[in-house]
Amino acid sequence: MDFKVHDDLSLLIIDDEEKNQNLYKKYLINSNICNVFSLKKGIEKLRDNHFDIIIADVNKINGEMDYLSEIISDKKKSIELIILSDYKSMEKTMELFNGIAEDFLIKPFNGETLISIINRTYLKLVHKKEKDNLFNNRPINNFYGLIGQSKRMQYVFNEIVKAAATSANVLITGESGTGKELVARAIHYNSLRSKAPFITVNCAGIPESLLESELFGYVKGAFTGAHSSRIGFFYTAQNGTIFLDEITEITPVIQVKLLRIVQNKEFYMLGSSECQIADVRIITASNKDVMELTKKGFFREDLYYRLNVIPIHLPPLRERREDIKILTEYFSIKYCKELNKNRISFTDDAIQAFELYSWPGNIRELENVIQRIIVMTDKEIITLNDLPLLIQQSKKTVQEYSYIYKSLEQIEMEYIKTVLSYTKGNKTIAAKILDIDRKTLWDKLRKLGQINSN
Ligand SMILES: Nc1ncnc2c1ncn2[C@@H]1O[C@H](COP(=O)(O)OP(=O)(O)OP(=O)(O)O)[C@@H](O)[C@H]1O
Ligand SMILES: [Mg+2]
Repeated sequence: MDFKVHDDLSLLIIDDEEKNQNLYKKYLINSNICNVFSLKKGIEKLRDNHFDIIIADVNKINGEMDYLSEIISDKKKSIELIILSDYKSMEKTMELFNGIAEDFLIKPFNGETLISIINRTYLKLVHKKEKDNLFNNRPINNFYGLIGQSKRMQYVFNEIVKAAATSANVLITGESGTGKELVARAIHYNSLRSKAPFITVNCAGIPESLLESELFGYVKGAFTGAHSSRIGFFYTAQNGTIFLDEITEITPVIQVKLLRIVQNKEFYMLGSSECQIADVRIITASNKDVMELTKKGFFREDLYYRLNVIPIHLPPLRERREDIKILTEYFSIKYCKELNKNRISFTDDAIQAFELYSWPGNIRELENVIQRIIVMTDKEIITLNDLPLLIQQSKKTVQEYSYIYKSLEQIEMEYIKTVLSYTKGNKTIAAKILDIDRKTLWDKLRKLGQINSN
């Protein structure tokens, strides 16, 4: 348990008990606190300042409760109330503040309880704000570094909010470069574990023989070459999150060990019989069809279900082309800033080419393409011709084959019109060129609404 509240949190405390004052001073040092001893003073503060949470002793506000509840409901979406009361009067207090207070804290309380209740309330507040954004149909374009305005990405953002509110394991799937790691980070840094470590392990990037000892650690003499003990990633990630990328690449032996961690929250360092506790949230990712691999017996079914408590799937970029324009702008601004260049923009033609290209490498490929252009160019406006040939081609191919989007009837009509314009409207000559009789030509023109039926 991390004894800290979120850094950017602002608290109004209405409480004068000395014992509690000491706790506030000791445990809330990194937040912005305003401590007053009466409701009257608290209300004055509320008028001119923003607070995320009010912590108030029931005795300090009893008489003027209506006034307080009015202020709270006025600001309902951005303020939460935690009421302090002693055990004896808690039942009555809860009745009184039902629907007004977000939570209740029984006096006396310790630092750990105080922090955990504040963090829980703050998280609820953050999620409420996120939800308001989502449900007011105001698309969030930048969600903790994830850019996207498409419906599919808005859905993903919503799933991230839900996942962050719990400690359940998450399995993120999606093609390479779709943003799986960014999603894992967004979940961790918005969860109550955010102050503890976020450890990334690329399971495919570490040799099979080393992965086990890297994950779980080893004690001196565990194997030849283990001259001293070393802790593993699960130990380092204590209280935090471990992100296991390319999870399908782990061996059956590691799968068993992982299962033990997921089920019993315990593991053993290599060569040790001492059981270690792992309070670690596990987020896994894969660009493969994990379910399919499980069905085929390459991945343990029991482990799969335990890792896949919250599934999040990231759609490939070609299935959310409406995000390409804002991503292009986002990366263009990012790299211009990095390189100290003036703003560089892309013409509609260039954006269209981006939108038509298939992006097999997804957002990573788009980011690399833009970075390369920004580094190499000395122009301020990027046109179609400045793009890599393959991407230019995607637009030209569509232009060349634009007729494939037309119906046979449309194409027939366009052809008849071309011939008629060549014959200067002479239908007899046109029918000859088209190799149909005049009546058929008239019928076609009538059917296609080019001449009156009468
Ligand atoms: N929605 C997004 N908005 C902004 N940048 C993004 C987004 N998605 C991905 N990126 C960027 O694209 C790159 C690739 O993202 P990331 O590493 O998260 O993908 P991945 O799915 O984990 O890929 P791989 O399967 O290859 O490991 C990163 O530089 C990341 O910052
Ligand atoms: Mg990745």
